[in-house]
Amino acid sequence: MEALRIILDEHQALAALLHALRFMLKEISAGRLEPDLRLLEAMIHYLDAYPEKRHHPKEDFLFERLKARTEEGAAALARLEMQHAGAPARIHALEDAVRAYAADATRLPELVKAFDVYAEFYRNHMLLEESGVLPLARQHLTPDDWVEVDQVFAQDPDPMAGMTAPPEDFAALFSRLVAATPAPLGLGGGPFKG
Ligand SMILES: [Fe+2]
Ligand SMILES: [Fe+2]
Repeated sequence: MEALRIILDEHQALAALLHALRFMLKEISAGRLEPDLRLLEAMIHYLDAYPEKRHHPKEDFLFERLKARTEEGAAALARLEMQHAGAPARIHALEDAVRAYAADATRLPELVKAFDVYAEFYRNHMLLEESGVLPLARQHLTPDDWVEVDQVFAQDPDPMAGMTAPPEDFAALFSRLVAATPAPLGLGGGPFKG
């Protein structure tokens, strides 16, 4: 069940990032922090490349196997499947909001709202996976299923574990994002230089 550990680790990494993101948005809304467009663009790039394009496909494989074993959790799985498929629209909404703000600074509330919606979406998404689906996988998948699922997961090493994942070094990008996030959550290293 190495796959479950990987999913939970990746959720934790994403939750930490979303937490930092929410803190930044609060500071921006309160006028205590200027939005850093390069940092926000780097975050969108990261969110697209990592949770949307690498984390979800692994989960999809596990969810398919669960569907083959039981009808339990069918509603949750259908919902998660739809949510995974909504990745391009989610990312476009963030990109549009950054572009709109870059062209017109009065559109700051929309920018803050767009990231807030994204963070809230993920909070609920991960909660549904962890409480509604992963326990069923633990219960219904056979030992042979786990061998196969773990193999699929092993083909995509956890980019948060400090490993370099060509063509991009996700761990380094994550460190840079956290370093640029204001204290106390980040390291308060100032503007993102990426
Ligand atoms: Fe997911
Ligand atoms: Fe997930």
